[in-house]
Amino acid sequence: MTPATATVPAGTAAPTAKDLGYRSFTAGHVRFERDEYFAHIFYPKGRHTMPIEAFLRALMRDVAWGFFYGTVNFDGVFGTTNHYGTVDLYIGLYNESYRRGNQHYVERFDAKDLKKVYEDILADWTNEGFDPFAAPEETGLPYGPKHGNNLKAIGRTRVSANRMIGLKGDAEIRSDANGYPVNRAFADVPQDAPEIHVEPGFEAEVHAFNLYAYLSRSDVTWNPSVVSVCKDSLLCPTTEEHILPITHGNDRVEWFIQVSDEIYWDIEDKASGKPVSKVVMKAGDVAAMPADIRHRGYSPKRSMLIVWENNDNQVAELHASGTIKPYPVEF
Ligand code: PHB
Ligand code: FE
Repeated sequence: MTPATATVPAGTAAPTAKDLGYRSFTAGHVRFERDEYFAHIFYPKGRHTMPIEAFLRALMRDVAWGFFYGTVNFDGVFGTTNHYGTVDLYIGLYNESYRRGNQHYVERFDAKDLKKVYEDILADWTNEGFDPFAAPEETGLPYGPKHGNNLKAIGRTRVSANRMIGLKGDAEIRSDANGYPVNRAFADVPQDAPEIHVEPGFEAEVHAFNLYAYLSRSDVTWNPSVVSVCKDSLLCPTTEEHILPITHGNDRVEWFIQVSDEIYWDIEDKASGKPVSKVVMKAGDVAAMPADIRHRGYSPKRSMLIVWENNDNQVAELHASGTIKPYPVEF
Protein backbone atom coordinates (compact mmCIF):
# COMPACT_ATOMS: atom_id res chain seq x y z
CA MET A 1 0.00 0.00 0.00
CA THR A 2 1.28 3.42 -0.80
CA PRO A 3 0.72 5.93 1.92
CA ALA A 4 -1.79 8.55 1.01
CA THR A 5 -0.35 11.94 0.34
CA ALA A 6 -2.47 14.60 1.81
CA THR A 7 -2.84 17.63 -0.33
CA VAL A 8 -4.19 20.79 1.07
CA PRO A 9 -6.52 22.44 -1.38
CA ALA A 10 -5.16 25.82 -2.25
CA GLY A 11 -8.63 27.34 -2.33
CA THR A 12 -9.11 30.85 -3.48
CA ALA A 13 -8.47 34.08 -1.67
CA ALA A 14 -11.47 35.37 0.26
CA PRO A 15 -13.44 37.75 -1.94
CA THR A 16 -12.86 41.38 -1.16
CA ALA A 17 -15.53 43.95 -0.44
CA LYS A 18 -15.20 45.11 -4.03
CA ASP A 19 -15.65 41.59 -5.48
CA LEU A 20 -18.85 41.28 -3.46
CA GLY A 21 -20.21 44.62 -4.61
CA TYR A 22 -19.71 46.51 -1.36
CA ARG A 23 -18.00 49.86 -1.04
CA SER A 24 -15.15 50.43 1.45
CA PHE A 25 -15.18 53.56 3.58
CA THR A 26 -12.62 55.63 5.43
CA ALA A 27 -12.92 57.98 8.38
CA GLY A 28 -9.57 59.59 9.16
CA HIS A 29 -7.07 56.72 9.52
CA VAL A 30 -9.75 54.07 9.92
CA ARG A 31 -11.03 51.95 7.03
CA PHE A 32 -14.23 49.92 6.99
CA GLU A 33 -14.75 46.87 4.78
CA ARG A 34 -17.41 44.22 4.71
CA ASP A 35 -17.53 40.72 3.31
CA GLU A 36 -20.36 38.19 3.30
CA TYR A 37 -20.33 37.66 7.09
CA PHE A 38 -18.15 40.28 8.73
CA ALA A 39 -17.34 43.96 9.10
CA HIS A 40 -13.59 44.64 9.24
CA ILE A 41 -12.25 47.80 10.83
CA PHE A 42 -8.64 48.54 9.88
CA TYR A 43 -6.86 51.07 12.09
CA PRO A 44 -3.20 52.05 12.46
CA LYS A 45 -2.54 49.31 15.06
CA GLY A 46 -4.41 46.44 13.46
CA ARG A 47 -7.76 45.05 12.41
CA HIS A 48 -10.95 44.51 14.37
CA THR A 49 -13.62 42.14 13.02
CA MET A 50 -17.28 41.98 13.98
CA PRO A 51 -20.19 39.81 12.77
CA ILE A 52 -21.99 41.92 10.14
CA GLU A 53 -25.41 41.55 11.76
CA ALA A 54 -24.21 42.85 15.13
CA PHE A 55 -22.26 45.62 13.42
CA LEU A 56 -25.22 46.86 11.35
CA ARG A 57 -27.63 46.72 14.30
CA ALA A 58 -25.22 48.79 16.40
CA LEU A 59 -24.45 51.18 13.55
CA MET A 60 -28.18 51.77 13.04
CA ARG A 61 -28.52 52.91 16.66
CA ASP A 62 -25.39 55.09 16.62
CA VAL A 63 -26.66 56.87 13.49
CA ALA A 64 -30.30 57.17 14.57
CA TRP A 65 -29.37 58.49 18.00
CA GLY A 66 -26.71 60.95 16.80
CA PHE A 67 -24.10 59.08 18.93
CA PHE A 68 -26.43 59.04 21.97
CA TYR A 69 -25.21 59.97 25.48
CA GLY A 70 -21.70 58.89 26.49
CA THR A 71 -20.28 55.78 24.86
CA VAL A 72 -21.86 53.46 22.31
CA ASN A 73 -19.89 50.20 22.45
CA PHE A 74 -20.56 48.07 19.37
CA ASP A 75 -18.79 45.25 21.28
CA GLY A 76 -16.02 45.11 23.90
CA VAL A 77 -13.59 46.89 21.57
CA PHE A 78 -15.08 49.28 19.02
CA GLY A 79 -17.35 52.27 19.53
CA THR A 80 -17.92 56.00 19.85
CA THR A 81 -17.89 58.57 22.63
CA ASN A 82 -20.13 61.58 22.19
CA HIS A 83 -18.66 64.96 23.06
CA TYR A 84 -21.72 66.75 21.70
CA GLY A 85 -20.32 68.47 18.62
CA THR A 86 -17.30 66.24 18.25
CA VAL A 87 -17.16 62.48 18.63
CA ASP A 88 -14.35 60.00 19.34
CA LEU A 89 -14.15 56.79 17.33
CA TYR A 90 -12.21 54.27 19.41
CA ILE A 91 -10.79 50.79 19.28
CA GLY A 92 -9.95 49.24 22.65
CA LEU A 93 -10.17 52.52 24.59
CA TYR A 94 -12.54 51.00 27.16
CA ASN A 95 -10.93 47.56 27.15
CA GLU A 96 -8.47 46.83 29.92
CA SER A 97 -6.34 44.41 27.87
CA TYR A 98 -6.06 46.72 24.87
CA ARG A 99 -5.09 49.56 27.21
CA ARG A 100 -2.51 47.49 29.06
CA GLY A 101 -0.94 46.37 25.77
CA ASN A 102 -1.14 49.90 24.33
CA GLN A 103 -3.23 48.55 21.44
CA HIS A 104 -5.98 51.11 21.81
CA TYR A 105 -6.63 53.80 19.23
CA VAL A 106 -8.79 56.95 19.26
CA GLU A 107 -9.58 59.51 16.62
CA ARG A 108 -11.76 62.60 17.02
CA PHE A 109 -14.18 63.85 14.35
CA ASP A 110 -16.75 66.55 13.87
CA ALA A 111 -19.91 64.63 14.72
CA LYS A 112 -21.56 65.55 11.43
CA ASP A 113 -18.61 64.22 9.40
CA LEU A 114 -18.49 60.84 11.11
CA LYS A 115 -22.27 60.60 11.02
CA LYS A 116 -22.16 61.06 7.25
CA VAL A 117 -19.63 58.22 6.86
CA TYR A 118 -21.69 55.98 9.12
CA GLU A 119 -24.89 56.76 7.19
CA ASP A 120 -23.13 55.89 3.95
CA ILE A 121 -21.83 52.57 5.35
CA LEU A 122 -25.28 51.69 6.63
CA ALA A 123 -26.92 52.48 3.29
CA ASP A 124 -24.39 50.52 1.24
CA TRP A 125 -24.01 47.49 3.50
CA THR A 126 -27.67 46.90 4.39
CA ASN A 127 -29.07 44.42 1.87
CA GLU A 128 -32.65 44.13 0.72
CA GLY A 129 -34.70 42.24 3.29
CA PHE A 130 -32.55 43.03 6.32
CA ASP A 131 -33.90 45.57 8.81
CA PRO A 132 -31.33 46.45 11.49
CA PHE A 133 -34.04 47.96 13.72
CA ALA A 134 -36.23 44.84 13.70
CA ALA A 135 -36.25 41.87 16.06
CA PRO A 136 -34.50 38.80 14.55
CA GLU A 137 -37.90 37.09 14.14
CA GLU A 138 -39.19 40.02 12.09
CA THR A 139 -36.42 40.48 9.54
CA GLY A 140 -34.48 38.66 6.84
CA LEU A 141 -30.72 38.15 6.96
CA PRO A 142 -27.86 40.57 6.20
CA TYR A 143 -25.39 38.08 4.67
CA GLY A 144 -23.95 37.39 1.24
CA PRO A 145 -22.84 39.53 -1.68
CA LYS A 146 -24.51 42.90 -2.07
CA HIS A 147 -28.13 42.62 -3.16
CA GLY A 148 -30.41 45.63 -3.18
CA ASN A 149 -30.84 47.92 -0.21
CA ASN A 150 -33.32 48.79 2.53
CA LEU A 151 -33.26 52.57 2.56
CA LYS A 152 -36.82 52.68 3.84
CA ALA A 153 -35.95 50.75 7.01
CA ILE A 154 -32.74 52.60 7.78
CA GLY A 155 -34.27 56.00 6.96
CA ARG A 156 -36.82 55.84 9.77
CA THR A 157 -36.52 58.97 11.84
CA ARG A 158 -36.50 58.62 15.58
CA VAL A 159 -39.79 59.85 17.02
CA SER A 160 -39.06 62.90 19.14
CA ALA A 161 -41.98 64.88 20.52
CA ASN A 162 -41.56 68.59 21.10
CA ARG A 163 -43.89 68.43 24.08
CA MET A 164 -45.97 65.26 23.95
CA ILE A 165 -47.14 62.67 21.45
CA GLY A 166 -50.58 63.51 20.05
CA LEU A 167 -50.63 67.23 20.89
CA LYS A 168 -51.69 69.43 18.00
CA GLY A 169 -48.73 69.92 15.64
CA ASP A 170 -46.60 67.42 17.57
CA ALA A 171 -45.59 63.79 16.74
CA GLU A 172 -48.60 61.64 15.85
CA ILE A 173 -50.33 58.87 17.78
CA ARG A 174 -49.71 55.51 16.02
CA SER A 175 -52.62 53.76 14.34
CA ASP A 176 -53.47 51.17 11.69
CA ALA A 177 -54.29 54.08 9.37
CA ASN A 178 -50.81 55.63 9.54
CA GLY A 179 -49.02 52.30 9.14
CA TYR A 180 -48.43 51.09 12.69
CA PRO A 181 -50.41 47.89 13.36
CA VAL A 182 -50.30 46.28 16.80
CA ASN A 183 -47.23 44.04 17.11
CA ARG A 184 -47.75 40.28 17.34
CA ALA A 185 -46.41 40.26 20.90
CA PHE A 186 -48.87 42.88 22.13
CA ALA A 187 -52.15 41.59 20.69
CA ASP A 188 -53.65 41.65 24.21
CA VAL A 189 -52.89 45.31 24.90
CA PRO A 190 -56.11 47.38 25.16
CA GLN A 191 -56.33 50.08 22.53
CA ASP A 192 -58.71 52.46 24.30
CA ALA A 193 -57.85 56.12 24.74
CA PRO A 194 -58.31 58.32 27.80
CA GLU A 195 -61.18 60.82 27.80
CA ILE A 196 -59.90 64.37 28.02
CA HIS A 197 -62.24 67.07 29.36
CA VAL A 198 -60.54 70.42 29.06
CA GLU A 199 -61.58 73.80 30.44
CA PRO A 200 -62.13 76.15 27.51
CA GLY A 201 -58.91 78.02 26.79
CA PHE A 202 -56.63 75.16 27.87
CA GLU A 203 -57.04 72.93 24.80
CA ALA A 204 -53.36 73.24 23.89
CA GLU A 205 -52.17 72.58 27.44
CA VAL A 206 -54.03 69.52 28.66
CA HIS A 207 -53.42 66.18 27.00
CA ALA A 208 -53.22 62.45 27.61
CA PHE A 209 -52.74 59.32 25.52
CA ASN A 210 -52.55 55.57 26.05
CA LEU A 211 -48.82 54.85 26.25
CA TYR A 212 -49.36 51.05 26.27
CA ALA A 213 -51.32 51.29 23.02
CA TYR A 214 -48.67 53.57 21.55
CA LEU A 215 -45.87 51.15 22.41
CA SER A 216 -47.82 48.10 21.28
CA ARG A 217 -47.62 49.60 17.78
CA SER A 218 -43.87 50.20 17.66
CA ASP A 219 -42.31 48.60 14.57
CA VAL A 220 -38.74 48.78 15.89
CA THR A 221 -36.80 47.38 18.83
CA TRP A 222 -34.26 48.97 21.16
CA ASN A 223 -34.99 52.48 19.91
CA PRO A 224 -36.24 54.85 22.62
CA SER A 225 -38.51 57.58 21.27
CA VAL A 226 -39.10 60.83 23.10
CA VAL A 227 -42.82 60.85 23.94
CA SER A 228 -42.91 63.70 26.45
CA VAL A 229 -40.58 66.53 27.31
CA CYS A 230 -40.50 68.73 30.40
CA LYS A 231 -37.43 71.01 30.27
CA ASP A 232 -34.47 68.55 30.44
CA SER A 233 -36.61 65.59 31.44
CA LEU A 234 -37.13 63.28 28.47
CA LEU A 235 -39.43 60.29 28.76
CA CYS A 236 -38.13 57.77 26.23
CA PRO A 237 -40.13 54.53 26.13
CA THR A 238 -39.18 51.73 23.80
CA THR A 239 -40.08 48.14 22.96
CA GLU A 240 -37.37 45.52 23.40
CA GLU A 241 -36.88 42.05 21.98
CA HIS A 242 -33.68 39.98 21.80
CA ILE A 243 -30.48 41.92 22.68
CA LEU A 244 -29.72 45.63 22.95
CA PRO A 245 -27.38 45.95 19.94
CA ILE A 246 -24.94 48.20 21.80
CA THR A 247 -23.48 48.29 25.28
CA HIS A 248 -24.26 51.78 26.48
CA GLY A 249 -21.69 53.55 28.65
CA ASN A 250 -23.44 56.28 30.58
CA ASP A 251 -22.12 59.79 31.08
CA ARG A 252 -25.06 60.58 33.36
CA VAL A 253 -27.62 58.74 35.46
CA GLU A 254 -30.35 57.04 33.47
CA TRP A 255 -33.55 55.65 34.98
CA PHE A 256 -35.27 52.50 33.73
CA ILE A 257 -38.91 51.67 34.40
CA GLN A 258 -39.89 48.17 33.25
CA VAL A 259 -43.44 48.62 31.98
CA SER A 260 -44.16 45.05 30.87
CA ASP A 261 -42.48 41.62 30.84
CA GLU A 262 -38.79 41.24 31.75
CA ILE A 263 -35.31 42.38 30.79
CA TYR A 264 -32.00 41.01 32.12
CA TRP A 265 -29.17 43.54 32.24
CA ASP A 266 -25.43 42.92 32.26
CA ILE A 267 -23.71 45.78 34.05
CA GLU A 268 -19.98 46.32 33.53
CA ASP A 269 -17.47 48.90 34.64
CA LYS A 270 -17.61 51.69 32.06
CA ALA A 271 -13.85 52.06 31.63
CA SER A 272 -12.55 48.49 31.89
CA GLY A 273 -15.53 46.36 30.89
CA LYS A 274 -15.20 44.24 34.06
CA PRO A 275 -18.48 42.65 35.18
CA VAL A 276 -20.21 44.61 37.95
CA SER A 277 -23.67 43.07 38.33
CA LYS A 278 -26.67 41.38 36.81
CA VAL A 279 -29.99 43.18 37.13
CA VAL A 280 -33.29 41.40 36.58
CA MET A 281 -36.12 43.83 35.89
CA LYS A 282 -39.70 42.60 36.02
CA ALA A 283 -42.80 44.60 35.16
CA GLY A 284 -43.10 47.49 37.63
CA ASP A 285 -39.41 47.51 38.62
CA VAL A 286 -37.49 50.78 38.60
CA ALA A 287 -33.69 51.09 38.46
CA ALA A 288 -31.20 53.93 38.21
CA MET A 289 -28.23 53.11 35.99
CA PRO A 290 -25.23 54.97 37.45
CA ALA A 291 -23.02 57.31 35.41
CA ASP A 292 -19.90 55.12 35.70
CA ILE A 293 -21.15 51.86 34.19
CA ARG A 294 -22.04 50.34 30.83
CA HIS A 295 -25.06 48.13 30.33
CA ARG A 296 -26.62 45.75 27.81
CA GLY A 297 -30.11 44.27 28.07
CA TYR A 298 -31.65 40.93 27.08
CA SER A 299 -35.39 40.73 26.50
CA PRO A 300 -36.62 37.15 25.87
CA LYS A 301 -40.10 38.36 24.92
CA ARG A 302 -40.94 41.75 23.40
CA SER A 303 -41.27 44.05 26.39
CA MET A 304 -41.98 47.69 27.18
CA LEU A 305 -39.34 49.81 28.89
CA ILE A 306 -39.28 53.50 29.77
CA VAL A 307 -35.83 55.07 29.66
CA TRP A 308 -35.88 58.39 31.49
CA GLU A 309 -33.09 60.65 30.27
CA ASN A 310 -31.62 63.84 31.73
CA ASN A 311 -30.86 66.06 28.73
CA ASP A 312 -29.03 68.74 30.78
CA ASN A 313 -25.93 69.58 28.74
CA GLN A 314 -23.84 70.25 31.88
CA VAL A 315 -24.47 67.04 33.73
CA ALA A 316 -21.88 64.92 31.85
CA GLU A 317 -19.11 67.33 32.85
CA LEU A 318 -20.30 67.34 36.49
CA HIS A 319 -19.95 63.55 36.52
CA ALA A 320 -16.65 63.51 34.59
CA SER A 321 -15.10 65.96 37.08
CA GLY A 322 -16.47 64.07 40.08
CA THR A 323 -18.49 67.10 41.21
CA ILE A 324 -21.58 64.94 41.58
CA LYS A 325 -21.89 61.29 42.55
CA PRO A 326 -22.40 58.65 39.83
CA TYR A 327 -25.65 57.49 41.46
CA PRO A 328 -28.75 59.56 42.28
CA VAL A 329 -29.81 58.27 45.73
CA GLU A 330 -28.31 56.88 48.92
CA PHE A 331 -30.35 54.53 51.07
C1 PHB B 1 -29.80 52.39 27.05
O1 PHB B 1 -28.64 52.36 26.68
O2 PHB B 1 -30.04 52.83 28.16
C2 PHB B 1 -30.87 51.90 26.19
C3 PHB B 1 -30.77 52.07 24.83
C4 PHB B 1 -31.79 51.62 24.02
C5 PHB B 1 -32.86 51.00 24.58
C6 PHB B 1 -32.96 50.82 25.94
C7 PHB B 1 -31.96 51.29 26.75
O3 PHB B 1 -33.84 50.57 23.80
FE1 FE C 1 -28.26 53.44 28.67
